[in-house]
Amino acid sequence: ITLFVPRDTSALSMGADDVVQALKFQCQDLTDDVTIVRNGSRGLFYLEPLVEVLTPKGRVAYGPVQIEDVESLLAQGLLNGNSDHPLYLGLTEEIPYLAKQQRLTFSRAGIIDPININDYIEHEGFSGLSKALAMFEQGSDNGQQKIVDEIKTSGLRGRGGAAFPTGIKWQTVLDAKSTSEAQQKYIVCNADEGDSGTFSDRLLMEADPFSLIEGMIIAGLAVGANQGYIYLRSEYPQANIILEQAINTAYQQNFLGNNIQQSGQKFDLEVRIGAGAYICGEETSLLESLEGKRGLVRAKPPLPAIEGLFGQPTIVNNVISLATIPTILAQGAQYYQDFGVGRSRGTLPFQLAGNIKQGGLVELAFGTTLAELINDFGAGSYSGVPLKAIQVGGPLGAYLPENQWATELDYEAFAKIDAVLGHGGIVAFDDTVDMTAQARFAMEFCVAESCGKCTPCRIGSVRGVEVINKMTKAQQQSENSAEELAELNTLLVDLCDTMVDGSLCAMGGMTPIPVRSIMNHFSDDFVATADKFN
Ligand code: NAI
Ligand code: SF4
Repeated sequence: ITLFVPRDTSALSMGADDVVQALKFQCQDLTDDVTIVRNGSRGLFYLEPLVEVLTPKGRVAYGPVQIEDVESLLAQGLLNGNSDHPLYLGLTEEIPYLAKQQRLTFSRAGIIDPININDYIEHEGFSGLSKALAMFEQGSDNGQQKIVDEIKTSGLRGRGGAAFPTGIKWQTVLDAKSTSEAQQKYIVCNADEGDSGTFSDRLLMEADPFSLIEGMIIAGLAVGANQGYIYLRSEYPQANIILEQAINTAYQQNFLGNNIQQSGQKFDLEVRIGAGAYICGEETSLLESLEGKRGLVRAKPPLPAIEGLFGQPTIVNNVISLATIPTILAQGAQYYQDFGVGRSRGTLPFQLAGNIKQGGLVELAFGTTLAELINDFGAGSYSGVPLKAIQVGGPLGAYLPENQWATELDYEAFAKIDAVLGHGGIVAFDDTVDMTAQARFAMEFCVAESCGKCTPCRIGSVRGVEVINKMTKAQQQSENSAEELAELNTLLVDLCDTMVDGSLCAMGGMTPIPVRSIMNHFSDDFVATADKFN
């Protein structure tokens, strides 16, 4: 008998380890052998800890399971997939939240044991690498170009948030001449997932780490880099443990090291841990940090693709971008291209968080709407109070009012409404939210996280907090406040313009996005009625 109980951070935080202990204790005297596989979450966080049992019909799920449920679950036939218990959810694959998704990058998440390389291989793992090696063997230079061309054709764009075409970035690194005597190129994975409400990188690393490793090996082959680093945020200790286990196994099985699968190719991979700075998710400060320096943003150009880590040509890609590469090679670029709309091809793992009833990961092709996500998947607010604002794309993303929830989730459609899709984080707020506090928070966040290199961001954000505070005060003094409010409003508008125009990186340049969206769309709630930004 095989049971599955996840070991990723979300399931653990909901008590998955305690449930496993209880299951082991209660099953110890059974005549049947019971094996408990520690998989990753399926991404249905509202059902964690989700316990599954393998039956002839498929996996049957129960959840959310707490220690006190274990006895009754066993008594009512958990081990046979019996349907009598109130926590019975039916076949996992038929749970609508999962059944309605289009899982490409997360196709193995929750299905396999994350650190069992044979399980990975049995589920099409390393077939993308086999294809890449086959292309490579057909002639070195030509092979590299073929791999890069596949990525270009797939239409994949950077999933960290900026949506730059991955294939073009790879082409730049492939074409770049190494600049120093070292003659070295690097693959750097940005796993410093700092956006509030996002967790797709973490879940991928904890549920299917070999897909990231495979993607990085393929990237190395494609551009001629034989050293990779995963820059992992320190707040993800469980991802670190799982990645280290997976990397060790990949070395033992010759997927990493000096002679990958007897191909004569070499690729080494290490995890490096960040120190808790949001700005180290910005690629150039990430590289500074990797080099052992303080995480200060570098001016671009030169692009990291030309002069990156230690001055060498470097691919810096997000976890999801790299983990999608094996699927593209295994299934073919056209297969991936066929999902999505316009210039947004493939799928995006959306992350539902905040005041939402059914939080979790929803991988869908671009083109769906926020309304579908928050109603069909999220089932509305957790509090039961109607939803009022949805922030999309992390702390630097816009707050969208209900009349924008029908906008297609597509990079260009979002740009048209002065919003960003970013890394796919979706945070819901109900009607009790204080939008002035949210605007102030955007500025406060920038105060705390600015690297300090340029004035509009370092000082502008401090002034932003002050101006919003003054507006609140002015409004409280009901007499003669209208004129003062109007002046402060103009000041805030100017300050936002200066930050957008004068900041070196997205931190200062995007902080005005949430502030402006609140002034534009929630003016009734904001301390003053804002001028419209056109
Ligand atoms: P960017 O637009 O400057 O660059 C995007 C990427 O394309 C970079 O890797 C850049 O080096 C590369 N690139 C640009 N032109 C190139 C060329 N000609 N050849 C090769 N490569 C080229 O954006 P940036 O500053 O890297 O990222 C900003 C985004 O980061 C924001 O839109 C935001 O959504 C996202 N973000 C994500 C966070 C997360 O936790 N995932 C946190 C904060 C922001
Ligand atoms: Fe640093 Fe802010 Fe300037 Fe970016 S915008 S370089 S975070 S000071």
